[in-house]
Amino acid sequence: MSESTEGQAAVSHTLPALLETVRSTPVACLSNLTRKGDGEVVVKLESANPGGSLKDRAAWHIIRSAEESGLLRPGATVIESSSGNFSIALAMIGAIRGYDVIAVVDPKITPTNRSLLEAYGAQIIVVDEQDDSGSYHKTRIALANKLHAEIANSFRPDQCFNLQNGEAHYLGTAPELAEQVGASLRYVVCSVSTGGQIGGISRYFARHDPTVRVVGVDVYGSAIFGGPAHAYLVPGVGLSWTPDNIDDLSRLHSVYKVTDQQAYDMTRVLARHEGLLVGVSTGACALVALALARRCRSGERVACLAADRGERYLATAFDENWLAEKGLDSRLKTIEEMNREAASLVPWSTNPTDCANYEPTLALTLGSPTAGNPNYLPADMRKQLDHELTR
Ligand SMILES: Cc1ncc(COP(=O)(O)O)c(C=O)c1O
Repeated sequence: MSESTEGQAAVSHTLPALLETVRSTPVACLSNLTRKGDGEVVVKLESANPGGSLKDRAAWHIIRSAEESGLLRPGATVIESSSGNFSIALAMIGAIRGYDVIAVVDPKITPTNRSLLEAYGAQIIVVDEQDDSGSYHKTRIALANKLHAEIANSFRPDQCFNLQNGEAHYLGTAPELAEQVGASLRYVVCSVSTGGQIGGISRYFARHDPTVRVVGVDVYGSAIFGGPAHAYLVPGVGLSWTPDNIDDLSRLHSVYKVTDQQAYDMTRVLARHEGLLVGVSTGACALVALALARRCRSGERVACLAADRGERYLATAFDENWLAEKGLDSRLKTIEEMNREAASLVPWSTNPTDCANYEPTLALTLGSPTAGNPNYLPADMRKQLDHELTR
């Protein structure tokens, strides 16, 4: 040990600050669920980000861009509509960078997420008015926008309409995955809500390796890819319209919808048979990945994304009483049963462009600050705009 000052070890290398660790998440393949001779299922553990989810990437990317462009100033209040991972990520970043964070949530927020937000010091506002689809997304967003208009020195990351959400995954998640999995990568499977993840990843592979097929996973009851909207249980997945972050549906190879029961079953099977304690959207995503791996040859790989950690669901997905209360079968399924379930899945659509359910005027109607603001554009779109304006 070298000594610079008596009794004190010299620091010989620099270590990253917490936010610099929002990247380079590990990948691991499933050990027990896939059959010999089929493709391999690889899970990218976005749950390993410091705030515990995929949303650290989008939140940090948006905050950093806003700091650079001057939209976000010291001491500001950051206001977002999210009952889950995105507001938890912002709360973590706010604690580091000195911003107050207001999370506009709905009554479906879990006690665990509420506690996590409070642990990071965020303020919570609950919206209990449902929107025209029976969910709370639009009423939450409208309130967040209203607060932004009223509170001086405030900033709206606006994950649903801000295209920098997808840019975070285009620049980070997708190239990491391509490098980690290599040439054997056949499919990338993503669960979808704001479309940031699948939008960025599908843009990356369309541009850099179109042989990789990007597949979306939604739940029955969500209308991202059309179909009737109704209540469902899976947290973090779904929306009542196609989000702007999926700007080109033709980049998606296919989309699947899963039931609540399938998503919860697979989540519990991943914990018990793979030792992988992850959230329910990951269960949904991994079930579709398993279905696709059954159609691949040995040596080919199907990647799926583990959006968050299972600890967030101990009082729900991993609690048999809660499952029974919600009318779900709480019997733990076997590996064979889960494989049969995977084999029975058929795509909701193999031509996602036909399922478009965009609401082009929604951002303006809800008063979103991103609408028409070039400061919120991804860097390459901003460059293109600057170029057009100076011609
Ligand atoms: C647990 C979970 N899974 C999946 C997603 C979907 O990610 P995206 O919003 O990028 O489509 C989210 C988004 O909130 C989430 O919280």
